[in-house]
Amino acid sequence: MKIALSIVLAFFILGCESKTNEETTKTAPVAEVKVAKVEEKNALQKAADKVTEVSHAVANSEAVQTSMDKVAEVTQAVKENETVKATVASVKETVTEVKEKIDTYQEGKALYASCVGCHGSKGEKKALGKSAVIEGWSSQEVVTALHGYKDGSYGGAMKALMKGQVTKLSEADIKALADYISTL
Ligand code: HEC
Repeated sequence: MKIALSIVLAFFILGCESKTNEETTKTAPVAEVKVAKVEEKNALQKAADKVTEVSHAVANSEAVQTSMDKVAEVTQAVKENETVKATVASVKETVTEVKEKIDTYQEGKALYASCVGCHGSKGEKKALGKSAVIEGWSSQEVVTALHGYKDGSYGGAMKALMKGQVTKLSEADIKALADYISTL
């Protein structure tokens, strides 16, 4: 009888235990699944956040790129504008220089009219049969000679005559005349 009771008790205890084990093994996967789902949700959220972050970054970098392109474009335009301005300025300068040269040439030509009678229109004559032929002289040679006639430090027998020709001439006149004569 004792043995029979013990066996019954043993079965009862075993039965209870196995039941408890069964419950635990049933609930454990459910909890795991829940945890896994939560983790999955978190991972998805994180991924979604990352996508937003990346797309912001992309949008920003595109905006930055566009701005940089714009800056490059503007810089180029400014440079081109500066080049154009510089070219225009240098062309203007050249035009001014050329105008000045033309003016000087015209002045020189006008002043030389009073010399033509003795020296010839091309400076090809020996003035009064005495002077050197001034055709082909450089501007500097003519300036030196005329300065010399002016202060009496240059010339031959007829230097007084030439002094009379140059006393009335200003420095600018002498330069203009000399430049003109050098073109003859
Ligand atoms: C009336 C004639 C006459 C006129 C006008 C005249 N010259 Fe002369 N020129 C002479 C004579 C003569 C000499 C040589 C003078 C000398 O003995 O050094 C001379 C000399 C010169 C020389 C130096 C040549 C040399 O022999 O070393 C130059 C340069 C010159 N003349 C330029 C001019 C210029 C420029 C003008 C006009 C502004 C001018 N002359 C007008 C007669 C003239």
